Amino acid sequence: MTKSEIVAYVPGETSWWRKLFAIKTMEQLQGDIQNSEMKRTLNFFDLTSIGIGAIIGTGIFVLTGVAAAKNAGPSIAISFIVSGIAAGTAALSYSEMACMIPVAGSAYTYTYATMGELVGWTIGWDLILEYLVGAATVSVGWSAYFVEFIHSISGYKMSPKWTDAPFRYLDEEFSTTGNYINLPAVIVSLAITALLCLGVRESARVNSVMVSIKVVVVLLTIFACIKNINPDNYTPFFPPNEGKFEKFGVTGMLSAATTVFFAYIGFDAISTAAQEAKNPQRDLPIGICGSLIICTVLYIAVCFILTGVVPYKDYGGTAKPISVLIARTGMNWLNIVVSLGIIVGLASVMLILLMGQPRIFYAMAKDGLFPEIAAKVHPRFKTPWFTTIVSGVACAVLGGILPVDVLGEMTSVGTLFAFFLVNIGVIVLRFKRPDIERKFKVPLGPFVIPLLGAALSVLLICTASKSTIARLFIWMGIGLVIYAVYGRTHSKINNPHLARYDDEKVATQNELRGGAVSHLP
Ligand code: ALA
Repeated sequence: MTKSEIVAYVPGETSWWRKLFAIKTMEQLQGDIQNSEMKRTLNFFDLTSIGIGAIIGTGIFVLTGVAAAKNAGPSIAISFIVSGIAAGTAALSYSEMACMIPVAGSAYTYTYATMGELVGWTIGWDLILEYLVGAATVSVGWSAYFVEFIHSISGYKMSPKWTDAPFRYLDEEFSTTGNYINLPAVIVSLAITALLCLGVRESARVNSVMVSIKVVVVLLTIFACIKNINPDNYTPFFPPNEGKFEKFGVTGMLSAATTVFFAYIGFDAISTAAQEAKNPQRDLPIGICGSLIICTVLYIAVCFILTGVVPYKDYGGTAKPISVLIARTGMNWLNIVVSLGIIVGLASVMLILLMGQPRIFYAMAKDGLFPEIAAKVHPRFKTPWFTTIVSGVACAVLGGILPVDVLGEMTSVGTLFAFFLVNIGVIVLRFKRPDIERKFKVPLGPFVIPLLGAALSVLLICTASKSTIARLFIWMGIGLVIYAVYGRTHSKINNPHLARYDDEKVATQNELRGGAVSHLP
């Protein structure tokens, strides 16, 4: 029997542990694509712009200064190259998967098709950390820049009671700050959610405008400040290590690489829009790799400007390194323009992350792992409105009450875990399904790049704080309980008798194409 032939599923005859590894076949996935209710409206320009929209944000605008001042000095540019390599390996793996399996759901779908339902569920649950918690992280950064911008143009300083988190995390403990809520973070999350409910095409247009503004702002900063570089500021390029792993030297540079990894998060959001791409097999790899390359070049240029114009130590403790940089050049007009651009730019990151999350919930609900309402598509706007609203409200709550460091670290470890599994998935699928056409293949064979990517992901996870790693385990544990109680008993693959008319239609079409449910041995 060939791999694409039907392995008959008979309810009750498959042991429970084999059900955990039930996979969605390529034929079923292709059936999902053909039965998609989503409109195919996105071209490669929209996809690349979605990537850039999700990538450039808090990482470069907020975290770079502190990482240079405390960990890396001028070698922060090398930190960006190291974390760029980790992201780049995952980008290649995502590209191979995305053009093979161009359905909504991103890494969730890929792992479901390669390593089975339980791992698929695990990664889908994990992606909530990247998208939803990631968006909440950015909303807190947005709030800080917004408050500062209002102050700089009007002199009005909003009370921290209404603009800062009511909780902080210090010395491994949560405590209250006396603040009520981060209101700007809540408002921006809800406003973006409303926009997303109206439709992806409209959102893609708004996104293109926001991304253009963001890129212009970055270029403006680079070209306006380049003449102020003092080459002496680059020496020593690797400041000598001060006795602790993260304090300068080569190890400090590596530690900064973990911090600035956040800056690369988001390119995979392109793959969540795969089902809305006009020509997914050609345009997804272009969008994923293209956006990552453009952002890496911009990041490295910004790092050289930041540390060349201002001595790196002067960035200590600032959440707005770009403002410090421009202030040093005396161009105050530029500061106002750039701050406004950053506010718009951070909103575009949120837009993309909050567009990706509902599409992952949608894909999971279509498979029966979440209740059916999560797969509802609005009849007029053709958007997954229910999950969009749930994601937006959850993001608003998290951004409204939690501090940026807790949210940011959770986002990074969650993303690294997803990158790890996607890299492994590429290897698994090359051996399990060599017969499937791959319009894009990870270069240098199935091992070199995916294994390097998987190893770098684990390495960077290990450098996170113990409490963050503990939270990752707790979160994943909650996910497993939900799977045991709900997903396992409602999964359409393992409970085909629960499938409704539309799914039966898909199954029939799949069967006509010669595909069906199969199980790992
Ligand atoms: N990469 C995105 C940012 O830096 C998440 O904000």
